[in-house]
Amino acid sequence: MTHSSWSLGAAMAVLEPLRAEPGPVLMALQAIQREFGFVPDEAVALIATTFNVSRADVHGVLTFYHDLRTTPALENEIKICVAEACQAVGSRVLEKALKATYKEEVCDAFCFGNCALGPAVMVNGKLIGRATLAKVAEEIK
Ligand code: FES
Repeated sequence: MTHSSWSLGAAMAVLEPLRAEPGPVLMALQAIQREFGFVPDEAVALIATTFNVSRADVHGVLTFYHDLRTTPALENEIKICVAEACQAVGSRVLEKALKATYKEEVCDAFCFGNCALGPAVMVNGKLIGRATLAKVAEEIK
Protein backbone atom coordinates (compact mmCIF):
# COMPACT_ATOMS: atom_id res chain seq x y z
CA MET A 1 0.00 0.00 0.00
CA THR A 2 1.37 3.40 -0.91
CA HIS A 3 0.82 6.38 1.30
CA SER A 4 0.81 10.10 0.67
CA SER A 5 3.58 12.35 1.91
CA TRP A 6 2.46 14.65 4.68
CA SER A 7 0.77 17.86 3.62
CA LEU A 8 -1.63 20.10 5.46
CA GLY A 9 -4.07 20.10 2.54
CA ALA A 10 -4.18 16.31 2.30
CA ALA A 11 -4.59 16.04 6.07
CA MET A 12 -7.48 18.51 6.09
CA ALA A 13 -9.15 16.61 3.25
CA VAL A 14 -8.99 13.48 5.40
CA LEU A 15 -10.27 15.22 8.54
CA GLU A 16 -13.00 17.40 7.05
CA PRO A 17 -15.59 14.60 6.59
CA LEU A 18 -15.19 13.69 10.27
CA ARG A 19 -16.26 17.10 11.60
CA ALA A 20 -19.85 15.97 12.10
CA GLU A 21 -18.86 12.77 13.93
CA PRO A 22 -19.26 12.62 17.71
CA GLY A 23 -15.92 11.94 19.46
CA PRO A 24 -13.92 11.77 16.23
CA VAL A 25 -10.36 11.65 17.64
CA LEU A 26 -9.80 7.92 17.15
CA MET A 27 -11.39 7.99 13.69
CA ALA A 28 -9.23 10.99 12.80
CA LEU A 29 -6.04 9.23 13.91
CA GLN A 30 -6.99 6.11 11.93
CA ALA A 31 -7.83 8.19 8.86
CA ILE A 32 -4.51 10.05 9.08
CA GLN A 33 -2.65 6.74 9.42
CA ARG A 34 -4.47 5.27 6.40
CA GLU A 35 -3.52 8.32 4.34
CA PHE A 36 0.10 8.82 5.45
CA GLY A 37 1.06 5.40 6.84
CA PHE A 38 1.60 6.79 10.33
CA VAL A 39 0.55 9.72 12.51
CA PRO A 40 3.12 12.51 12.21
CA ASP A 41 3.59 15.01 15.08
CA GLU A 42 1.97 17.72 12.98
CA ALA A 43 -1.23 15.67 12.81
CA VAL A 44 -1.63 15.63 16.60
CA ALA A 45 -1.80 19.42 16.73
CA LEU A 46 -4.02 19.56 13.66
CA ILE A 47 -6.50 17.04 15.08
CA ALA A 48 -6.59 18.91 18.40
CA THR A 49 -7.32 22.19 16.67
CA THR A 50 -9.79 20.75 14.17
CA PHE A 51 -11.88 18.95 16.78
CA ASN A 52 -11.38 21.42 19.64
CA VAL A 53 -9.73 18.96 22.02
CA SER A 54 -6.42 19.21 23.81
CA ARG A 55 -3.20 17.85 22.34
CA ALA A 56 -2.97 15.72 25.47
CA ASP A 57 -6.31 14.11 24.61
CA VAL A 58 -5.12 13.30 21.10
CA HIS A 59 -1.77 12.05 22.38
CA GLY A 60 -3.54 9.87 24.96
CA VAL A 61 -5.61 8.12 22.28
CA LEU A 62 -2.60 7.84 19.98
CA THR A 63 -0.46 6.13 22.60
CA PHE A 64 -3.26 3.92 23.96
CA TYR A 65 -3.86 1.97 20.74
CA HIS A 66 -0.89 -0.13 19.70
CA ASP A 67 -1.94 -0.25 16.06
CA LEU A 68 -1.51 3.50 15.74
CA ARG A 69 2.07 4.37 14.86
CA THR A 70 4.05 7.59 15.14
CA THR A 71 6.78 6.52 12.73
CA PRO A 72 6.60 5.11 9.22
CA ALA A 73 5.91 1.40 9.06
CA LEU A 74 8.76 -1.04 8.66
CA GLU A 75 8.92 -3.23 5.59
CA ASN A 76 7.14 -6.05 7.44
CA GLU A 77 5.14 -6.06 10.62
CA ILE A 78 5.30 -9.32 12.56
CA LYS A 79 3.29 -9.75 15.75
CA ILE A 80 3.62 -12.87 17.85
CA CYS A 81 1.11 -13.82 20.50
CA VAL A 82 2.76 -14.31 23.87
CA ALA A 83 -0.43 -14.92 25.85
CA GLU A 84 -0.75 -18.10 27.92
CA ALA A 85 -2.31 -20.51 25.41
CA CYS A 86 0.32 -19.71 22.78
CA GLN A 87 3.11 -19.85 25.36
CA ALA A 88 1.96 -23.35 26.25
CA VAL A 89 2.65 -24.46 22.68
CA GLY A 90 5.98 -22.74 22.19
CA SER A 91 5.43 -19.09 21.33
CA ARG A 92 8.36 -17.93 23.49
CA VAL A 93 10.78 -20.19 21.60
CA LEU A 94 9.37 -19.01 18.28
CA GLU A 95 9.52 -15.40 19.50
CA LYS A 96 13.27 -15.75 20.14
CA ALA A 97 13.82 -17.22 16.69
CA LEU A 98 11.74 -14.52 15.01
CA LYS A 99 13.54 -11.72 16.85
CA ALA A 100 16.90 -13.22 15.95
CA THR A 101 15.88 -13.29 12.28
CA TYR A 102 13.69 -10.22 11.85
CA LYS A 103 14.85 -8.02 14.77
CA GLU A 104 12.85 -4.80 15.14
CA GLU A 105 10.06 -5.95 12.84
CA VAL A 106 8.77 -8.30 15.56
CA CYS A 107 6.60 -7.18 18.43
CA ASP A 108 4.64 -9.02 21.09
CA ALA A 109 0.87 -9.20 21.08
CA PHE A 110 -1.65 -10.66 23.51
CA CYS A 111 -4.14 -13.05 21.96
CA PHE A 112 -5.49 -12.89 18.44
CA GLY A 113 -8.42 -15.12 19.36
CA ASN A 114 -6.69 -18.00 17.60
CA CYS A 115 -5.68 -19.82 20.77
CA ALA A 116 -6.56 -23.32 19.53
CA LEU A 117 -4.07 -22.92 16.69
CA GLY A 118 -1.12 -21.51 18.60
CA PRO A 119 1.48 -20.33 18.40
CA ALA A 120 -0.24 -17.53 16.54
CA VAL A 121 1.64 -14.95 14.48
CA MET A 122 0.34 -12.07 12.41
CA VAL A 123 2.41 -11.01 9.40
CA ASN A 124 1.37 -7.77 7.72
CA GLY A 125 -2.16 -8.26 8.98
CA LYS A 126 -2.48 -11.93 8.00
CA LEU A 127 -2.98 -14.40 10.83
CA ILE A 128 -0.87 -17.59 10.80
CA GLY A 129 -1.88 -20.50 13.02
CA ARG A 130 0.50 -23.18 14.29
CA ALA A 131 3.17 -20.73 13.24
CA THR A 132 6.73 -21.73 12.55
CA LEU A 133 9.75 -19.78 11.38
CA ALA A 134 9.30 -21.36 7.94
CA LYS A 135 5.62 -20.34 7.71
CA VAL A 136 6.52 -16.75 8.63
CA ALA A 137 9.35 -16.69 6.08
CA GLU A 138 6.97 -18.03 3.43
CA GLU A 139 4.50 -15.24 4.19
CA ILE A 140 7.18 -12.54 4.00
CA LYS A 141 8.69 -13.44 0.64
S1 FES B 1 -3.38 -17.02 23.34
FE1 FES B 1 -2.43 -16.76 21.42
S2 FES B 1 -4.05 -16.40 20.07
FE2 FES B 1 -5.00 -16.55 22.00
